Amino acid sequence: MKKILVIGAGGQIGSELVIALRNKFSKEQVIASDVKEICPDIIQDGPYQQLDILNREAVREFVISNNITDVYLLAALLSATAEKHPDFAWKLNMEGLFTILDLAKEGHLKQIFWPSSIAVFGPTTPNVNTPQYTIMEPSTVYGISKQAGERWCEYYNNKFNVDVRSIRYPGLISYTSLPGGGTTDYAVDIFYKAKRDGKFDCFLSENTELPMMYMADAIRATIELMEAPSENITIRSAYNLSGCSFTPKGLAAKIKKIIPAFEITYTPDFRQQIADSWPKSIDDSFARKDWNWEEEFTTDKIVEIMLNNVNPALLTT
Ligand SMILES: NC(=O)c1ccc[n+]([C@@H]2O[C@H](COP(=O)([O-])OP(=O)(O)OC[C@H]3O[C@@H](n4cnc5c(N)ncnc54)[C@H](O)[C@@H]3O)[C@@H](O)[C@H]2O)c1
Repeated sequence: MKKILVIGAGGQIGSELVIALRNKFSKEQVIASDVKEICPDIIQDGPYQQLDILNREAVREFVISNNITDVYLLAALLSATAEKHPDFAWKLNMEGLFTILDLAKEGHLKQIFWPSSIAVFGPTTPNVNTPQYTIMEPSTVYGISKQAGERWCEYYNNKFNVDVRSIRYPGLISYTSLPGGGTTDYAVDIFYKAKRDGKFDCFLSENTELPMMYMADAIRATIELMEAPSENITIRSAYNLSGCSFTPKGLAAKIKKIIPAFEITYTPDFRQQIADSWPKSIDDSFARKDWNWEEEFTTDKIVEIMLNNVNPALLTT
């Protein structure tokens, strides 16, 4: 029987992934864990374990003694935060991955999911319909860590037959938890501020186009990839995955259709340079061919759902 451990379960993706996995399997089969002492309310309906992924021995002990079969490793420092703490970002984003890959190599785990990002691409990558296989010269600490992670995942699969699977997530949009320090966070924050203040000051310039995806699509993609027959998985680094693409200006125009008084201003900061190095849109034909990926949520649908559901009381600023 599967026994799943989600590491970094208290974050934007983890909280929704735990809910989806518990619905698919059973509450007892899905253990949420995070460095946070207190289990976030949203995932309190099942087992929770405080775990620091950097404590290699504690993680090994927990996985082995609880007969964990599958790990979803989500703990990481995201793009904007990583630029502020490069040493720690490298440590957190890489050491945790080795701990989990080694457990699988030794036969303690059956399957691993580890997310990559569009940040693996860089300023020299063709940025429209970015192909799966292309120039990859990331210029951020976060992107370098994700690219190195992809290489190690593929290596552990080739050399040790580790069943590790990965997706290059685009910017993810959701309303249940706030995002954790990424360059695409504006596309979540904008809905909270539109509802609370009727205005939003964007840290990216108006025409910065980036690939985005609604969280429900990302969660479904993750589970579909993990369930696909092993022989169909031709990519063991990470799959390109596409949802929709938009600019701050385009998103603001869609919000204005629902909240006519909404106003947006632009004050680009250090995140502009990160965004400028990333693709505008993604070619995900390998995901479509290998495991039948198809997105569901368009930008219009995302705007409608977000404006109906964000709770500005969650905001701290
Ligand atoms: N959210 C996005 O738009 C996006 C896009 C591309 C890739 N990703 C990747 O997906 C993964 C999850 O992203 P997210 O948006 O949910 O991030 P997040 O920052 O919202 O959540 C990360 C979680 O990891 C936990 N954590 C931090 N240090 C830890 C440690 N030492 N041990 C255990 N837990 C620790 C944090 O407390 C937090 O709950 C990351 O690898 C990220 O790079 C996210």
